[in-house]
Amino acid sequence: MRTIQASFLYFVFLAALLHLGCKENKKENQSENQMVKTESGKSHVGKSTFGEMPNGEQVDKYTLSNENGMEVDVITYGGIITRWTAPDKNGNYQDVVLGFNDLESYFGDVPYFGALVGRYGNRIAKGQFSLDGETYTLAKNNGPNHLHGGNKGFDKVVWNAEAENTDDGASLVLTYTSADGEEGYPGKLDVKVTYTLTGDDQLDIHYEAVTDKPTVVNLTQHSYFNLSGDFSQDILDHEVTLNAPAYLPVDAGLIPTGELRPVEGTPFDFTEPKAVGKEINADNEQIKRGGGYDHCWVLDETNGDFGLAASAYHPETGRLLEVYTDEPAIQFYTGNFLNGALVSKTGGTYGKRSGLCLETQHYPDSPNQEAFPSTRLNPGETYSSRTSFKFSTK
Ligand code: GLA
Repeated sequence: MRTIQASFLYFVFLAALLHLGCKENKKENQSENQMVKTESGKSHVGKSTFGEMPNGEQVDKYTLSNENGMEVDVITYGGIITRWTAPDKNGNYQDVVLGFNDLESYFGDVPYFGALVGRYGNRIAKGQFSLDGETYTLAKNNGPNHLHGGNKGFDKVVWNAEAENTDDGASLVLTYTSADGEEGYPGKLDVKVTYTLTGDDQLDIHYEAVTDKPTVVNLTQHSYFNLSGDFSQDILDHEVTLNAPAYLPVDAGLIPTGELRPVEGTPFDFTEPKAVGKEINADNEQIKRGGGYDHCWVLDETNGDFGLAASAYHPETGRLLEVYTDEPAIQFYTGNFLNGALVSKTGGTYGKRSGLCLETQHYPDSPNQEAFPSTRLNPGETYSSRTSFKFSTK
């Protein structure tokens, strides 16, 4: 009996070894293929000119593509993702992010379509905060408050770009140096954002920064997704999950009150998949303040571990987007301020709630709220934050 057991175990062990071996081989073949594709001209990173800044500076567009057919267009202005194709259940790749076809359209009053947002994503109350007894004054560009880095945040500057093919996929490294005092923030900040498109339809974003004086940093990506691929439709039928037991209620200016309120039994409960439209018009004070959802959810993983934070699913096309992050929170914004004023890439207009944002980040107004996880960055430290957007179908 023992012998039978032993040989059975030995067999299982052998099978597992063989399986592992195959997996490794497969991996190797895949990366070989990637290299072959690149060498044979089927480049994973294409480059073209997108436009010119008013001062004549050139803005480039990089197209990251993988072997499945996913393409992500990123421009050096604002690190903006202008186009991102994702498969539906029939394997059709279609553009699923709001944006424009030309650079000039991004110069107007644009609500951060696809942009890299910094130095501080989200709001800082009254455009002011103190560090080590020194008070810093920022632009009040959102009513009485500061929003998304100010009048000329990281979404409105031209980044340096370098493309490379890595073992993980096509990658674009964007760098920008924000001068000491830029937009009122202390410290010269060297920022590096790496976009990598992997072979499994996942865009990894790695944010890094170093400073020469104590400062605050909170970087995020502001893509508006419409998984239907049809920008004339709203996103109310998208089923969203937020891996968050609590959210941050806000005052009339959308500044967190400081409370972490449990979502249970409220329209803010997305712990199970729920259609965005189900309770978006609920008779709820917080919903009214946001004009829908425009709040920060506190993620389950608050210890810096990288994990699944959110998902959005479009039943008709079968498109599923999953968001992974090591950030402690996520701003879920349902495009409530979109009003049909901006012309879409396909000729129509971007109507109210025609896109949804899942902005991974630290809590808004953290520089003024001591109980919130700190957004302070000191000289000698490296800010490092990771978020991945993964597409699949179901
Ligand atoms: C963020 C904010 C919203 C709005 C958009 C841009 O996500 O939370 O209130 O300002 O950006 O329009």
